[in-house]
Amino acid sequence: MSKKAELKVGDKSYDLPIIEGTENEQGIDIAKLRGESGLITLDPGFKNTGSTKSAITFLDGEKGILRYRGYAIEDLAENSTFIEVSYLLIYGELPTPEQLTKFENEIKFHTLVHEDIKTILEGFPSNSHPMGVLSSLVTSLTAFYPESLDPNRSADKVNLSIIRILAKMPTFAAWAYKNEVGHPVNYPDNNLNYCSNFLKMMFALPAEDYEVDPVIANALDKLLILHADHEQNCSTSTVRIVGSSQASLYASISAGINALWGPLHGGANSAVINMLENIQKDGGDTKKWMAKAKDKDDPFRLMGFGHRVYKNFDPRAKIIKKAADDVLQKLGVNDPILDIAKGLEEVALNDDYFVERKLYPNVDFYSGIIYRALGIPVDMFTVMFALGRLPGWIAQWKEMRENHEPIGRPRQIYTGQGERKYVSVNDR
Ligand code: SDX
Repeated sequence: MSKKAELKVGDKSYDLPIIEGTENEQGIDIAKLRGESGLITLDPGFKNTGSTKSAITFLDGEKGILRYRGYAIEDLAENSTFIEVSYLLIYGELPTPEQLTKFENEIKFHTLVHEDIKTILEGFPSNSHPMGVLSSLVTSLTAFYPESLDPNRSADKVNLSIIRILAKMPTFAAWAYKNEVGHPVNYPDNNLNYCSNFLKMMFALPAEDYEVDPVIANALDKLLILHADHEQNCSTSTVRIVGSSQASLYASISAGINALWGPLHGGANSAVINMLENIQKDGGDTKKWMAKAKDKDDPFRLMGFGHRVYKNFDPRAKIIKKAADDVLQKLGVNDPILDIAKGLEEVALNDDYFVERKLYPNVDFYSGIIYRALGIPVDMFTVMFALGRLPGWIAQWKEMRENHEPIGRPRQIYTGQGERKYVSVNDR
């Protein structure tokens, strides 16, 4: 007998079906609520509202569990590669050796971008934030591949759009950086793997040879795996809702990039480093800044702390914190703000305000320290997040399209003026 919830409103009651997920999570299906009762639900920020059923990523915020297609994030971060994880998220299974080789080669074949993209890039002043450049260049793909505007094309044509953006995003990201520093762009080098090619496009200079440090390439690959998907977060929900209008994949991804940019979401990784540097400049008094974070009259928040879902440690933060120690040690980097970060974490984990609100370090708290050690500038950190999240956005967009989900259009409770008559300006 399927489970149901009974809603009593006045002298009426309504039976609402309860649906159960793979991991026994339960949801009340309110699809028929308004039709039967005239009622809607209200949940600003969708803190208690599921927008979809999805088979891609599972999170358990209480237990600090994160799995991509059933595989634990710890397992994938330790043993897989970003390209393999991208395949897993998008197509649902780990690839066979032949599938992986074909996927890698297809991506390599499409890394070059149309030369006119350089003309678009040159239109951006060199102080442009790279996230704005990135979302614009992604949108420009609709001009170079107008056939991509139709999301209802055959699966293999949609797949070509997927391969193209997976292949070109690293080129766009590196070119956004080169535009910002006023250096000439580098073209992709398909003799290198995904991360090495990106690092070379980012850091190679005409006047000197550039050798990719495998320690840096491996650390970057692990970071991209850790950012690859995270179920219905703000930017992924944006990608899904934009795609639900049958806007193209590239328009949906560009919207996701812009949603990620915000400091409460993907922009937090840059905000964490700026915060740690300010605390360092201010003498490193962590207790003073913790007091500011707890003061309701102070707009300061402890960036990189807290999460809508995780009310325990973000498993990604644990992995990144360990990787930060390893990478800085291997690179011989001694970054004093890592100690400040650890000091803040220590104080927060023993402070009632944070403990009561279950505020723990999230994925953004330590990631910037590694990016900094890798030589990546602060305002490129969120671009790195976007690079990592791309396969997740694609997988979620593809799932929404394949499930023929309806256009997203939430309801509201109106609280404005009641009906009133127009009065001409001369009579007001
Ligand atoms: C990401 O959703 C995802 O999965 C996102 C992400 C992904 O992979 O896609 O995991 C990536 O975006 C991680 C989060 C990065 N953002 C930050 O680090 C910014 C700092 N954190 C917060 O702003 C906040 O914690 C959020 C935005 C992450 C979550 O906000 P919620 O769920 O809306 O919680 P809230 O703002 O209602 O906070 C609950 C309480 C409040 O206090 P009270 O009103 O109950 O007294 O906790 C307090 C908040 O003031 N609080 C903080 C705090 N975060 C929450 N107080 C101080 N410092 C903080 N960082």
